[in-house]
Amino acid sequence: MRLDIVTIFPDYFAPLGLSLVGKAINAGTVDVAVHDLRDWTHDRHRTVDDTPYGGGAGMVMKPEPWGEAFDALEQASPLPMTVVVPTPAGRPFTQELAYGLAGRPRLVFACGRYEGIDQRVIDHCADAYELVEVSLGDYVLNGGEVAALAIIEAVVRLLPGVLGNPESLVEESHSAGHDQLLEYPNYTKPPVWRGREVPEVLLSGHHGRVAQWRSEQALERTRTRRPDLLGDDIRDEKRT
Ligand code: ADE
Repeated sequence: MRLDIVTIFPDYFAPLGLSLVGKAINAGTVDVAVHDLRDWTHDRHRTVDDTPYGGGAGMVMKPEPWGEAFDALEQASPLPMTVVVPTPAGRPFTQELAYGLAGRPRLVFACGRYEGIDQRVIDHCADAYELVEVSLGDYVLNGGEVAALAIIEAVVRLLPGVLGNPESLVEESHSAGHDQLLEYPNYTKPPVWRGREVPEVLLSGHHGRVAQWRSEQALERTRTRRPDLLGDDIRDEKRT
């Protein structure tokens, strides 16, 4: 997979060299290029923003540098581009969307700052490429960079060969094969820590009872923490 990131803060993306994503880059599973939007400005101050038409607080990112950036990226590779624009006005990011993005050959992240990017850039991307506007949640970050990092991490770990043990994809919270439940609690050695014991069933060696306990825990956690993830029938079911 090819990843291009356009930002006015390329330094935000240094952590991509670490951990699983860094390994995926070294292994050639992903090819990442971080681009400074200001490289596509032509004035002495390398200006990327201007005041909003119609008035109001803050600044808006000018369309011209973005247009040149997308033209240059398009020229650089024949892979079809899926443009990802992180914005609180986007569609909620979910594991399902992560799987969808993981199936694309090339993702281009357009990281906005200030009050956002001139809408004509977004409309141009919708016409010329595949466009996905994505929100990380109902809160406001200072720009798209942190959101892009989170989306990249969620996507890259789904690529074939990135996780040491692909089984972990099946059991974790929000995975499709797990009825959309939150993950059960996990324990490791020692069996007693500061007076707190590991649940007896996990020490029993009885696979059937362990599986039963885990699915009960996953359901109970989901019921108390994220009832919105459960269908009405399961949410209201009498507890046993
Ligand atoms: N940019 C600013 N806030 C954001 C959010 N909540 N999600 C995605 N991108 C953002």
